[in-house]
Amino acid sequence: TKDWNGINQFLLRNPQGASARVSLHGGQVTSWRNEHGEELLFTSSKAIFKPPKAMRGGIPICFPQFGNCGSLEQHGFARNKIWTVDDNPPPLHPNDSHGKSFIDLLLKPSEEDQKGWPHSFEFRLRVSLTTDGDLILISRVRNINGKPFSFSFAYHTYLSVSDISEVRIEGLETLDYLDNLCQRERFTEQGDAITFESEMDRVYLSSPNVIAVLDHEKKRTYVIRKEGLPDAVVWNPWDKKSKSMVDFGDEEYKQMLCVDGAAIEKPITLKPGEEWTGRLQLSVVSSSFCSEY
Ligand code: BG6
Repeated sequence: TKDWNGINQFLLRNPQGASARVSLHGGQVTSWRNEHGEELLFTSSKAIFKPPKAMRGGIPICFPQFGNCGSLEQHGFARNKIWTVDDNPPPLHPNDSHGKSFIDLLLKPSEEDQKGWPHSFEFRLRVSLTTDGDLILISRVRNINGKPFSFSFAYHTYLSVSDISEVRIEGLETLDYLDNLCQRERFTEQGDAITFESEMDRVYLSSPNVIAVLDHEKKRTYVIRKEGLPDAVVWNPWDKKSKSMVDFGDEEYKQMLCVDGAAIEKPITLKPGEEWTGRLQLSVVSSSFCSEY
């Protein structure tokens, strides 16, 4: 299919009727639905589907920089670029393609990108939908430079929730985090689980590979499994910041929560010829079965 600007989007489906949509704009997942057709990712009603900016919602890819701590535009350029379909991807582990519906995308830097970030790389992204309806994103970044380079990374995942004040995150208790609202000062999480009553913009450090987001009202739990991604970003703009974002409704902060698998505190360094892999798997379980994760 095409989006509003004629940019190709690809629809993945599984036999049970779950689906995912991926855009060449940013390599961004723009939709993920369960077998009942319910949307699991948040997209703002005010989202702007127009390059060069990433659309507000889905899963934008932050690369080669997360946030604005660096010389590049906020969250790096990858989310703003038009990717291509990778017709000839190098093989992945057989478990990462068997029985799945998937698409492989590729980003190589343009001359303009290399002015701001003077490195040659190939960024391969595989987006898969499993027979269980899980969404899997596998990013592989290869250094094809003559010298090493470093980057940070995040899958900026906008989860759709029924009411932010009824949501809690499990798996980040007792961890250290950098608070972006406070000059990236370092704190230690004290609570039993993370709940929301004001703006939150944190990078939890060295987090476990499994994080659960419990949506009490919907009786739905998102399970986030990550590999190669030590950090976890938690972001909700709350009311004041929502009003300052042109592509976000004033009240929409109640229906979304970003929880990103990320590599931020310690940037990834690749020597010439080296490759890094960052894998994210999103599943949904109904709350009565949430002991499963
Ligand atoms: C979050 C950052 O991950 O992304 C926030 O931690 C930022 O500081 C938010 O406001 C949204 O960023 P953007 O560039 O998509 O508006």
